[in-house]
Order: sequence, then C-alpha cells, then structure tokens
Amino acid sequence: MQILPQAASTVAASVDSVEMLVFWVCLISFAIVMAMVIGFPLLYSRKSDNDITPDIRGNHVAEAIWTIIPTILCMVIFAAGLAVYNDMRAIPEDAMEVKITGRKWQWIFTYPDGRVVPNELVVPAGKDIRLVMKSDDVIHSFFVPDFRIKQDVLPNAYTKLWFNAPQPGEHQVFCTEYCGTSHSAMLAQVKVLSQTDYDAWAAATDSGDSNLPPEQLGQQAFSKYGCNACHSIDGSPLVGPSMKGLFGKLETLEGGSQVSVDENYLMESIYDPTLKVVQGFGPIMPSFRGMASEAEVQGLIAYIKSLK
Ligand code: CUA
Repeated sequence: MQILPQAASTVAASVDSVEMLVFWVCLISFAIVMAMVIGFPLLYSRKSDNDITPDIRGNHVAEAIWTIIPTILCMVIFAAGLAVYNDMRAIPEDAMEVKITGRKWQWIFTYPDGRVVPNELVVPAGKDIRLVMKSDDVIHSFFVPDFRIKQDVLPNAYTKLWFNAPQPGEHQVFCTEYCGTSHSAMLAQVKVLSQTDYDAWAAATDSGDSNLPPEQLGQQAFSKYGCNACHSIDGSPLVGPSMKGLFGKLETLEGGSQVSVDENYLMESIYDPTLKVVQGFGPIMPSFRGMASEAEVQGLIAYIKSLK
C-alpha cells in the first residue's frame, strides 16, 4: 500500500523520514497513553470496602521520567526537521533559474532565455532548479507533492524554492492557498526530461506553432493557456461566458451596451479582457498579451468560430 505520493526529488526521502519519525513517535505515545487509560482503572480499582486509598503527594522519579523523555523526543524531532529544512532552504549556487508568476488562475513559467510557458514547467533531470516566484494578484501557493516542496506565492515579495528531480517523469502542481472561484483549476505539470530531450525542447522554436491548421492550433492553445478553467465549450456558464455559439452573437455588456462578437472583439478580449465585460460576469480575466503568439491568437479565434 502506498501512503505517500512517489518521492521524485532529492529532498523527498529525507522529508519522508522526518514525517515517519513524527508519525511513529505519535503512534507509540498514543499506544502508551491508551494502555494506561485502560489498564490503570483495571489494575488499581478498589477491590474491597476495606481498601484504603494511599495518600500520594508526588513522585520525583516518575515526574523526571515524564519530563525528560518527551523533552528529548521533541529535541530529536526538532533537530531532524531543522536539518531537512536547511537542506530545502539552501539553494545551490549554480541552479538553473525559472521565474514563476501565479495569477487567477494559472501558473506562468519564464525561462532564462525569455520564453514564457503557461501551466507547464519543463526541466532537465538531475539538475538543480531554482524557482523565483511572485503573484500578480492574491496569495497563491506552489505545491508539488511528488517533490515535497511547497511555498506561498505573494503579490509584494519574491519567494523562492528549489528542487532537483533525478529521473524523467511528470508531476502534478497544485495551488494550495485558496485564491477564489477557480482555485481548484489552478493546476500545472512539471515535466522532467532527460538532458537530451530537454536540449531538443529548448532548441525548438515556439513549439512548432505554424505547422498546425489555425483551428487545431487554437484548440491546443485553449488548453495550454488554461482557458478551459473558466470558459466551457458546451454552453454551460463557468466563471466566464461559454464559447459555444459565441461567434456572431450579440453580447450585452456590463453597463447595458451591446457588442457583436467578431474577430476584433475576440482579439481585444484576449489582450485587454477587462475593457468589455459581459453582463453577469466579473472583470477577472488576465491579459494574454505577450504570452499567446500572434498565430495562437488567430488560432483561438478560428477555434471559437468553430464552436457552433
Ligand atoms: Cu491560486 Cu489557489
């Protein structure tokens, strides 16, 4: 039976051993306390009316034992925890740096070469990775259970994390600080690639955008940028309006004016989403200016057109 998620980073095993130490100390303490709670009444209950209750005013040996043993246990847990904590906080000097921006409701990763990738952190296996994180809006928290790393992401200050994943694989990222309606959809993947695969990924220009027909590229971009977290394609309203049958429709905006949904309105809504907010929805969508490429925006418009 697997109780914990897979241990996929260099610190994961030591985090788990502290966790198991605390677990066993708690379990054994619980067993001893429960044995006394149940055992002592059976052992020391009054056997006859002539039993005289002894007048005990204290016991230095017993008091010393129940003071010293828990103190030692606490110090051991503290020392074990501190050693692992220091490991997790001491970011290796020559680590590769990736910037993370958290915003409602997606993770955006900026690489040393300037490329920006939403919702997907791609790293080479066996290399130290330093994460420098900031939020665009509220407090989020970056959590990778398989790596045993977690850190709040704040609006006014940078926070940092580091990890080293020795083996290629895929790992889930969660936002673990409640940040509004689509908090539970604020997900991303960590893709750990072998150095060769990583080099190929890093060398590839803009992930082969132009080879796809616009509609397909748009469909890909729709999930890549996490649009589906807020916009359904089946007509059901989520945090944002559904995309089904949207193109060509006459939308009523906050304030009562109307706009017909055409290419220009869609493009404007991707770049400056809060300029024209549809009635009944909030001005909460982030801008995708500088993230979605020209081809992707055209693709998104083609894709939305196709959702009749
Ligand atoms: Cu971001 Cu919860």
